[in-house]
Amino acid sequence: TRVNMEYKGTSLSDMHKGKGPWEYETYKLQPSKYHTVLYQLPATLKEPPKPHTSSTVFHWDEGYVRMPYSNKNLFPKNIEEGEDILVSRWELIKESLSKPIKYLEDFEKALRSYNFRFPKPTALQHLFFEVFSEEETQNFFNVLLPGIIDLALKLPEIVPDSIPLLKSGSCKSISFSQHQVSCILANAFLCTFPTKKEDVNYHSVNFASLFASNSRPKRVSCVIEKLKCILHYFQRILNEAPVGVITFERKHVNRSFVPRWDKLETNLGNTRVHITSESCIEDGLGFLQVDFANKFVGGGVLGYGCVQEEIRFIINPELIISRLFTEKLEDSEALLVIGTERFSNYKGYSDAFTFDGDCRDDVPFDQYGRRITSIVAIDATRFNKVADQFGCHHIIRELNKSYAGFHSRLTGSISAVATGNWGCGAFGGNVHLKFLIQLMACSASNRDMVYYTFSDPELREKLYDTYMFLAVNQITICKLWRLLCGYNRSKIVPETFLSYIQQSYFDSKSQPSIKSFFNSEPVASTSK
Ligand code: AR6
Repeated sequence: TRVNMEYKGTSLSDMHKGKGPWEYETYKLQPSKYHTVLYQLPATLKEPPKPHTSSTVFHWDEGYVRMPYSNKNLFPKNIEEGEDILVSRWELIKESLSKPIKYLEDFEKALRSYNFRFPKPTALQHLFFEVFSEEETQNFFNVLLPGIIDLALKLPEIVPDSIPLLKSGSCKSISFSQHQVSCILANAFLCTFPTKKEDVNYHSVNFASLFASNSRPKRVSCVIEKLKCILHYFQRILNEAPVGVITFERKHVNRSFVPRWDKLETNLGNTRVHITSESCIEDGLGFLQVDFANKFVGGGVLGYGCVQEEIRFIINPELIISRLFTEKLEDSEALLVIGTERFSNYKGYSDAFTFDGDCRDDVPFDQYGRRITSIVAIDATRFNKVADQFGCHHIIRELNKSYAGFHSRLTGSISAVATGNWGCGAFGGNVHLKFLIQLMACSASNRDMVYYTFSDPELREKLYDTYMFLAVNQITICKLWRLLCGYNRSKIVPETFLSYIQQSYFDSKSQPSIKSFFNSEPVASTSK
C-alpha cells in the first residue's frame, strides 16, 4: 500500500494501459437510420462544417423539435384592441430583435412581444445594475447582444434540417457542428423556442428561467456567476466560430439485455481502480466522465441549481442543448455526449461557485472532428429516507442505470469510467453503497474505474480498503449482490453497512446455513 499519495490503486498512466488518454476506440460518426448528422461530412476542422439539407423536413411534427422558424409557429397578435389574429412568430421574432435594444427594458419588451410568459429578468437586472461595471453592461448591449441576435436569426440557414427528438425507449444519435449548437444556444438565450404545456417530458431550453432566478438570496450569487460563464461562452464563439462537431446519443438498455446481477461470476478484483481525493471528474481526460444527472438532463442549470451537473453544463454550455431534444430519462437509460468544449474555469461549489475566467480546452479531436471528451448523464434515485436505498429493487435500479451509462458496443480497448459520489449529494445516497454499485457496473461493462472522492482523503482510504477486501477474497458480482440484498433483510442500521458486508461474507463462508437464506432468486429486472 502506498502512503502519503493522493491516490490509491492503479496509477493514471497504467489506467491508460500504456497508451495515451486519446487512443481509445471511438463510436463511428456515420449517418444512418439511427444517427442524424445535421452537417455535411467530413468536418475538416478548418472552418465550421456546412449544414446538411435534406429533402424531407419536419419542423413541426411529433417526432421532431419544433423549430421557431416553422411556418406553423403562430402567435396571437392583438391588432389595435381588436380580435386576436395569428401571425408568424418567426416574423415577429425577427421584427422585435431587429429594433435597437439598448437597455434591459428594451430586451424584456422584445422578448415578451413573442413570448407571453417571459418573466421579469430580475437576475439580469441584478447583473447589470449591481455586479457589472457600466462599461461591461454597455459591452453587453452594444457588442455581445447584437452578435447573439445575429447568430440566432440565422437559424433557418444554420440548422435547416429536422432535429429528431431522442425519445424514451430509443437508441438514437444526433450529430451537430459546434457552430450549429452555438446558433441553437443563441436562440435559447433569446427564448425563441416554442414551449407547450403538454411537453411534460421535456424541460425547456429557453433561458427565461435563469434570467428570472433572483429571489433566493443565498442562491443569487451562483446564478450571477452562471450568467457570467454563459456570456463568456458567447463572447468566445462570436470572436471565433468553433469548428468541431458533437454527438448526442441516447442509450437504452432493453430489459432483456440488462445483466443478471445474481448470476455474474466476474471477480470484482479484476476491475482496476484509481481512487483519488485530488481533482475532479472533468479532469479525467480521456475517460468516460459521469454527469450526476437529473432525469431531466441538465437539472437546475437554467435555474438555481449549482452542483455537479449544473456546473458541468455551465462550463461546457454546449451540453445545455440536450434539453431541447432529450426526453426524460427512464430507468435503464442514459445520455452520452461526445465532443463538447469547455469554455470556463471555475472555483468553489454550490453557493460558493464562481466563474474563474477563460478556459482553453486543448483536448484533441477524434477522426470525425469531435473533442475526445465523453460525458455520460445518469440520474440516480433521490432518497428522502436513507434506509430505502438498501432495498433490492432500488439497488437493481441503480445497477441497471449505471450499466446503461457505462456499457459500450465497442469491442476493442475502451476507457475507464471517471466517477465519484454519484447520487450522494442532492440525492441523499450512501456513498459506500453507490461505490459498490458503480464498481459492479464497471465490472459488468468491462471498464476500469477512476473514482474522485471530492477532496475527501478519508473516504479515499475507506473505499480502497473495501475494494481490497473484495479483491483479496475474490468476491464476484453475484456474491456481492447477495450480500447487499441480505443487508436489507438484516435490518441493521446503515452506519454499519460496510462491516456488515465484511461480517456476512465471513459468516456465509463458515455457516452454510446462511447460504440457503440467500438462495431465493433475486429479481434481476428493472424496477419500474
Ligand atoms: N467531481 C467529482 N465529484 C464531485 C464533483 C466533481 N466535479 N462535484 C461534486 N462531486 P451532486 P447527486 C461530489 O449532489 O446527489 C443536480 O441538481 C460531491 O461529493 O451534484 O446525484 C442534478 O441535476 C457531491 O456531493 O449529485 C440532480 O438533480 C457529490 O459528488 C441532482 O443534483 C454528488 O453531487 C443529482 O444529485
